[in-house]
Parts: sequence; C-alpha cells; structure tokens
Amino acid sequence: MDRKPFGSKVFSNKGGFVYLLSHRTQILYIADISFVIMYLEVVPGCLVLESSTGSGSLTTSLARAVAHTFDFHEQRAGSARDDFERTGLSSLISVRVRDIQGEGFPSEFVGLADAVFLDLPQPRLAIPSAAKMLKQDGTLCSFSPCVEQVQRSCETLKWKLCAGQYCFFRYG
Ligand SMILES: C[S@@+](CC[C@H](N)C(=O)[O-])C[C@H]1O[C@@H](n2cnc3c(N)ncnc32)[C@H](O)[C@@H]1O
Repeated sequence: MDRKPFGSKVFSNKGGFVYLLSHRTQILYIADISFVIMYLEVVPGCLVLESSTGSGSLTTSLARAVAHTFDFHEQRAGSARDDFERTGLSSLISVRVRDIQGEGFPSEFVGLADAVFLDLPQPRLAIPSAAKMLKQDGTLCSFSPCVEQVQRSCETLKWKLCAGQYCFFRYG
C-alpha cells in the first residue's frame, strides 16, 4: 500500500477526506471536535483563539474560521506550522509561540474573539485573559481531564465575574 507522509489529505472513495497528522501530544478526536465546534458556533469568518496548539488536531477543524493558535513549545508550534503549510491551511491559521498561562493572549485581540478554546494544564490561569478577548456574546470552552480542574475553572470565573457563555468539557 502507498505510504502517505504526515500532513497529507487522504480522500475516501466513498467521499470525504481526512488529514494525516502526527501525534506530538494528546489530541482531541473527531467526536469531541464536533461538539466543540458546534458549541462554539464556529462558522467561516469567526475569529477564534486557541491555546494550545499541541498536535493541531482541533486547529485543523477551527480553520473554517480565522484561527490564531498559541503554544509555548517552540518545536511543537513549528511542526504544526509545517503541517498547516502542507495541508494548505496556513493562510487561515496563525501559529504563535506564547506562554498563555503566564502572559495571557495578546492584547491586540481584546474584545474581538467570537470564541476562545483552552486545552491547558492549568486553564484557570488563562481564564481572566480569555474573558477579556471575547466579544460580548463570545463563547469560551475549556477542555479538562478531571472534574477537579473543571471546579477550579468555575471558581475562577465566579471570582473574576466574567460575562459570557462558558462550557467546561471533561474527557476520560
Ligand atoms: C494536550 S496538548 C493540546 C492538544 C490540542 N488540543 C490538539 O487537539 O492537538 C496541550 C498543549 O499545551 C501546551 N502548553 C502547556 N502549557 C502552556 C502554556 N503555559 N502556554 C501555552 N501552551 C502551553 C503544551 O505545549 C501542549 O502542546
């Protein structure tokens, strides 16, 4: 069988296609991605901020909007950028190296984001910044491995009195 390199777009003979991505981190899978995209109401033309890029699995689906994705790991961000070049998505996705838990999202996006998605080890540290980035009717979604992390995120939202819609998603 023909071996395809990572980054290839592979078409099925029944219609549809998939992207071949290499796993550099844990990733979101299609069932969760579908829920997240639907919940965030991501449509063409939306501005979406994501942290973090990881293997770019969710980012590939966010590319229907204008996506700015951030990861503090330079090599991972570089590999994701290379993948998006190969899959022809690079004009829709900007990949930047940034410590989102430490520095927050860049101030140039304050009040402009339709949606913010977090998949971080300590999302509560990024929530105050994420809330500032959202438009008034924007939506934040945070993907967490355990209910304790979800509780900590909810506490942060309560104390920071962030307005808007929120979704906490637990996997595993
Ligand atoms: C589980 S992966 C994200 C997977 C991604 N959602 C996907 O579907 O491919 C978590 C990522 O968070 C990044 N990360 C951890 N702490 C960070 C921080 N303070 N700022 C930015 N990125 C961070 C890691 O480098 C890692 O790539």
